[in-house]
Amino acid sequence: MSLRETVIAKFQECFGEVPVHVVRAPGRVNLLGEHVDYNDGFVLPIAIDRATWLAFSTSDTDQTRLTAVDLSEDVSFTPEMLPAKTDAKGRPLPTWALYPAGVMWALMEAGLATPALRGVYSSNVPQGSGLSSSASVEMAFVLAWQTLGGWRLPPMDRALLGQKAENEYVGVNCGIMDQFASACGEQDRLLHLDCRSLEWQALPLPKEVAIVIADTRMRRTLTSGEYNKRRADCEEAVRLLSTDLPGITSLRDVDLETYNRLSSHLPERVEKRARHVVEEIERTQRAIPLLEEGDMVEFGKLLNQCHASLRDLYEVSIPELDTMAAIAQSLPGCYGARLTGAGFGGCTVNLVAREQTDSFSQALAAGYEDETGFPPEIYVCSASKGAELI
Ligand code: GLA
Repeated sequence: MSLRETVIAKFQECFGEVPVHVVRAPGRVNLLGEHVDYNDGFVLPIAIDRATWLAFSTSDTDQTRLTAVDLSEDVSFTPEMLPAKTDAKGRPLPTWALYPAGVMWALMEAGLATPALRGVYSSNVPQGSGLSSSASVEMAFVLAWQTLGGWRLPPMDRALLGQKAENEYVGVNCGIMDQFASACGEQDRLLHLDCRSLEWQALPLPKEVAIVIADTRMRRTLTSGEYNKRRADCEEAVRLLSTDLPGITSLRDVDLETYNRLSSHLPERVEKRARHVVEEIERTQRAIPLLEEGDMVEFGKLLNQCHASLRDLYEVSIPELDTMAAIAQSLPGCYGARLTGAGFGGCTVNLVAREQTDSFSQALAAGYEDETGFPPEIYVCSASKGAELI
């Protein structure tokens, strides 16, 4: 059964009728530009062919009633209870429900209508895997309330509202990349976003390469603390560097040459974090002409450098991700491999010569299992459309 069929069937079981609408909102994989979105940098994600599916109809009470099929859990909440983050009976909302509740809260804050709904959802974006399962849930609910609320916003504005929900309601200080990719994804295209101006373009994906996702199946749990700390270190770097560089507002304003000249003024940890960001922003700028020329060899090297930097400077890798990336980088046909997303678990993204995809995937799975004792999950993904009403 497809996820679409699953959520429709479950809706019928829960509410005794067919749902009026179904939306689909994808996860994403980021090729380059990691931990730079909240530093006003550039990112290169694609929306993937894994998504959250939500079947929904209006509700005739003021209660929004949701079923998360994958967790076999239900929740009900009302607009009045949102600030306290409790369900309709006054109990704390379960963590998973903070995402839809946060979306309703953010939309209400923006003065947008959010009629109570009955919804059932399910996702094949694995949670805590670096593929933005949360953003896909957020984008599905923003679209659901847009459908029922009688308003219409461009995809980027919907992404910003999802980010607001995650920052201010869920409490993760994330940047805009994930919601952007889920909202604005394009089929067979790579997205290039300037996180400062929010200008973006879709670039053709080089035909001769496949994007392979390798899931260590190590799940990141409650690492918003570590994520928020990285962000705070970047802000501290800006504060300290602004003594010499008055007027800078983010690490985007510091080029590598200037950074090299001033970096000795920073405490060691802050220096490492900021160096990753400054160098990674530079790498994403070097990537665009390489992509345009189709130079996968040089582009792939940037992915490898990014992994090393996330491991050694930003310190968001784990041994399993290092093992997965190292094995991949040694295999024939692999242009580049690195951890993708926030880190601390999850997946690597691999750029592989299309005709060698099968042998690469088999060798990577075998090599990883040999070293760790665990079979990974490996799949070739394609770039999909952003969130849509089906
Ligand atoms: C998470 C966040 C994004 C981004 C990445 C790291 O996915 O949600 O905003 O910061 O980590 O690049």
